Amino acid sequence: MIKWGLLALMAGIVLAVLGILWMRPVSGSIARGEKLYAVHCVNCHGEQGEGLAQLIPPIHGTGASSDADLICAMRYGKKGKLEVGGIVYDGVMPANFELDEGEIRDLANFVRIKLRKCRDCKELGLADMPVFLAKCTLAQPLLLSDSAQTQY
Ligand code: HEC
Repeated sequence: MIKWGLLALMAGIVLAVLGILWMRPVSGSIARGEKLYAVHCVNCHGEQGEGLAQLIPPIHGTGASSDADLICAMRYGKKGKLEVGGIVYDGVMPANFELDEGEIRDLANFVRIKLRKCRDCKELGLADMPVFLAKCTLAQPLLLSDSAQTQY
């Protein structure tokens, strides 16, 4: 009898641990995004997306850019005046033409859900990317030619 009780208790513990692991909002996409962030973004925006003084804007919290701005900035870069958290930045962020749509989606999911801790954000899928990207090519034609000349 005692043996069965012990077994049931152990099964309960195992199930509880599995439950906690399952609830953690870490998916394959976010995990891949974290690795890509370490290669393509961390040098400028920092471990937690905190930015760098007056030079690089934070991307982790209040005043964060929209999903559309985030995705466009990653692919086509960004320059010109940009106010985040009361500070006006006027820098140049390089374009990333080597990143494919899956990688941009992974980065976007990592930034939105992990860095910005957005609990209500749903993970973006691959099918969302062409919709976002089609809009930014039109909005930022100047940067396209600029970044094509510069290799980062
Ligand atoms: C060489 C440094 C550098 C790198 C690398 C870099 N950024 Fe930036 N990023 C900047 C600067 C500078 C700005 C502000 C540009 C401006 O003043 O308009 C910026 C702006 C942004 C913004 C704000 C855009 C908006 O419209 O509000 C986001 C989001 C962002 N970066 C995300 C990323 C992500 C994600 C990566 C990695 C794929 C990345 N950045 C890589 C320097 C960098």
